[in-house]
Parts: sequence; C-alpha cells; structure tokens
Amino acid sequence: RKKVTLQTIRNLYRKGEPITMLTAHDFPSAHAAEIAGIEIVLVGDSLGMVAMGLEDTTEMVLDEMILHCRSVSRGAKSAFIVGDLPMGSFEISPEQAVGSALRLMKEGRVHGVKIEGGEELGPTIKRITQVGIPVVGHGKTVKSATKILRDALVMQEAGVSMFVLEALPPEVATLITKKLSVPTIGIGAGNGCSGQVLVQIDMTGNFQPGRFVPKFAKQYADVWGEATRGITQYREEVKSRAFPSPEYTYPVSQEELAKIEK
Ligand code: KIV
Ligand code: NA
Repeated sequence: RKKVTLQTIRNLYRKGEPITMLTAHDFPSAHAAEIAGIEIVLVGDSLGMVAMGLEDTTEMVLDEMILHCRSVSRGAKSAFIVGDLPMGSFEISPEQAVGSALRLMKEGRVHGVKIEGGEELGPTIKRITQVGIPVVGHGKTVKSATKILRDALVMQEAGVSMFVLEALPPEVATLITKKLSVPTIGIGAGNGCSGQVLVQIDMTGNFQPGRFVPKFAKQYADVWGEATRGITQYREEVKSRAFPSPEYTYPVSQEELAKIEK
C-alpha cells in the first residue's frame, strides 16, 4: 500500500468514501491495523486505561505517549499515525503545546497530533499547524450540541485537518459534518460522519468480560476468550507434562548423550 497522507484522506472525504481510523498502542496492535488496511492509526490516550490499567486518561504523561507512539510507528508503516496530546502537555500556553507536539512527532514519529477541547484551543491549534504539524480536533458531548458546533468551527478556522466527534446523537453529528469542510471521524456519533474510529482493545474484545465498555463499542472479535483459552490449556499441559511433547524439543545423538552420562 502507498503511504497514507493528508491528501489521501482529503481525497476519500471528497469522494464520500468513509475514512477508517482505529487505535493502537504497541507494535502488534499497530501491525494488525496496518495489515487490515486502516487508513489512520490513532495512539489515543485511552491506552492509559486499556493497555496500562490506569483509572482514567488524565494520568497519562507525554513521555508514556511517546514510548507507545514509537512502537506503533514501527508496526504501521503506511498508515497515517496520529498521537494524542495528553492532559497537561498543552494547556499552559501555545508554546508548551508546540513543544509537546514536536516531541510527539520527532521522538514518537507520529504524523499528526490530536487535541481534546473546545474553542479556547484556537490559538494553540494555530501555533501547532504553523510549524507544519497536522492537528486533529476532538470534541465530545459534555456540552450542548450548539457549543460543540461552535467549537468545531473555531478549530476548523484554526487549521485542524479533521475533527473527532464523540458520543453525539447521529442527527447532530451529521449536521456538524455538513457544516464543516474538513472530515469528521465519529465514535458513538452515528454513520453520518466522514469516517469512524474505535478503540482496538474494545472492538477486538481483548478485555475481561464484565469490564465497562461504552455503548458504541461493537465487539468484532473475542481476543480475550482466545488468549485465556490458550493460556489455560498451556498451564494444564505443563501440570500434566503433556507439554512439551517431542516435536517441541531438540534432538541429541547417542554418543553425545553417552559423554554427558559418564
Ligand atoms: O484516546 C482515544 O482512544 C480516543 C478515541 C476515543 C477517539 O481519543
Ligand atoms: Na483520547
């Protein structure tokens, strides 16, 4: 596959072909997304919860994001990689945000950064895009529908390349999508967006049954079930000495054996 660029994404948007985005947090999860042909791989700060076991994403720090982004960049060679600017890495000033975005790009090897918030981020987004780093905006419905539309329009004016819409009624997300001239990527926002994103660990079912997952997280696989099935069988076979059977061992000649026995 040819490298996915912002131009590739703009072309899909113009053609009306839905854009696919999926999160990844390490080499294998990035590689799986890459092989499946996902256009945008997102190293979202949700990895703090799903891959690091933190209570919430606010605990994530930039150094941890950089480490995960580096692994993802080795696994997704042609996808467009976006890394989240974690809380605390951009709020102080546009300069702080540019510094963090530059580190995520140069050390984490991402192609763009995502920033969560509203219209107050206008000057920050402008500064990051001015140094040539693509920015993805991210808004969710803690506020009203009119507020999220205003946020999106200000962030578009400031230069975002696309906008993630999270947990919004489909009608609202569709309207916002129509009013913007950059693609919207929905998560729990219906199918009227320009593309969709899901958290990979959620959609592959790689978590203990019973853990909370949002309503929008459709489960396409049962990675947890398959992994625990295999690990349980391994444990039983070790306990019964069924593993390792001869095909998993290395042969030795009789002479060599005789030498050791002496
Ligand atoms: O952190 C994340 O995975 C995200 C997605 C929910 C869009 O921001
Ligand atoms: Na996030």
